[in-house]
Amino acid sequence: MATSGLMTTYKPMSVAFDKGDGVWLYDTDGKKYLDCISGIAVCGLGHCHPRVTQTIQEQAQRLIHTSNLYRIPHQEALGARLAEVSGMEACFFGNSGAEANECAIKIARLYGHNKGVEKPAIVVADKSFHGRTLATLSATGSRKVQAGFEPLVQGFVRAPYDDLDAIRTIAENNPSVVAILVEPVQGEGGINIPGDDYLSGLRKICDDHGWLLMLDEIQTGNGRTGTYFHYQQHDLLPDVVTTAKGLGNGLPIGACLARGEAAATLKPGNHGSTYGGNPLCCATALTVVDTLLEEKLPERALKLGQRILDGFATQLEGNSIVEEIRGKGLMIGIQLAKPCAELVAQAKDNGLLINVTSDTVVRLLPALVMSDAEADQMVQAVSKLIKDFAAK
Ligand SMILES: Cc1ncc(COP(=O)(O)O)c(C=O)c1O
Repeated sequence: MATSGLMTTYKPMSVAFDKGDGVWLYDTDGKKYLDCISGIAVCGLGHCHPRVTQTIQEQAQRLIHTSNLYRIPHQEALGARLAEVSGMEACFFGNSGAEANECAIKIARLYGHNKGVEKPAIVVADKSFHGRTLATLSATGSRKVQAGFEPLVQGFVRAPYDDLDAIRTIAENNPSVVAILVEPVQGEGGINIPGDDYLSGLRKICDDHGWLLMLDEIQTGNGRTGTYFHYQQHDLLPDVVTTAKGLGNGLPIGACLARGEAAATLKPGNHGSTYGGNPLCCATALTVVDTLLEEKLPERALKLGQRILDGFATQLEGNSIVEEIRGKGLMIGIQLAKPCAELVAQAKDNGLLINVTSDTVVRLLPALVMSDAEADQMVQAVSKLIKDFAAK
């Protein structure tokens, strides 16, 4: 039974935060926490970045919302900026990652119908996470997310992640496929990093079969893995890219970016969102993009990520329960040999905010503005936590 006036969708820890500053959060009793998860990869610029706060204040005083019945200059400016940064041509703005992916899924289906495919299908990966709406949970590769919500949305064909042969086999046998939707690095699935040839292999398969390559960069985007978008480390362009999380640094905004035929697929009346791309969120996201790039934070994420991986390699060397330490920029996972969800509460009691995903992976998604000293402090504290856990 709900006891707090809230549905029981979440099981929050017994802590509430009152203010934030950079990588630090302060609870309602004034206790200080090192935030190693940034609101689940959202506050890439840290909490209450002065430029972001200033933009929100100024824009909120001027104009917050008008709807998409009218032109929204901030939305046009953000669309142009993201197109320039990504190599895409056009954007649709919603309010979350799931909505960005819904847009991508609708583009793929319409693209398929326009080609005369009666029941267009999208290839998705095992262990993926694409959101909690019906279409995006159906695309997600986790039974835990789907259970209880059947019948699922049809039209998804699943393949193991990082397995190009499996997708080639699907291509040979399934003429209804029109697109692939994957995360370039899986986040919720446990920080799974595919081989270097995976994305270029997918690009080739898509080119050979006239499929859209659609990348879910909701977690990997906005500088987190070392370039603004992760695919920019692979010398290729997708047809569709989705992003959210770090784009608004906390204000709700998601974007579906596309180029070529995919960019021109949706026509007036095909898709929409009342709040999507409103002046407040777009002005803020523009400041976020500018700040990330002007302060060279994607490069910083790459360098800092390496420092953190090196630190963990030293601290946790030979530890009996550490199976693998892996990361791309500031998406870091420490794979343990046993379920470790209890570490989250232990860390919190020690003033450290971490996350555990896929039962056995300690996941760290710190802000891109984290200093070297703060990163070293994080490595020390997380390593101690894991060492104590192993010794139990
Ligand atoms: C890769 C990926 N896609 C989609 C989503 C869903 O985003 P949102 O929770 O904003 O709907 C997430 C959220 O964790 C994600 O990591």
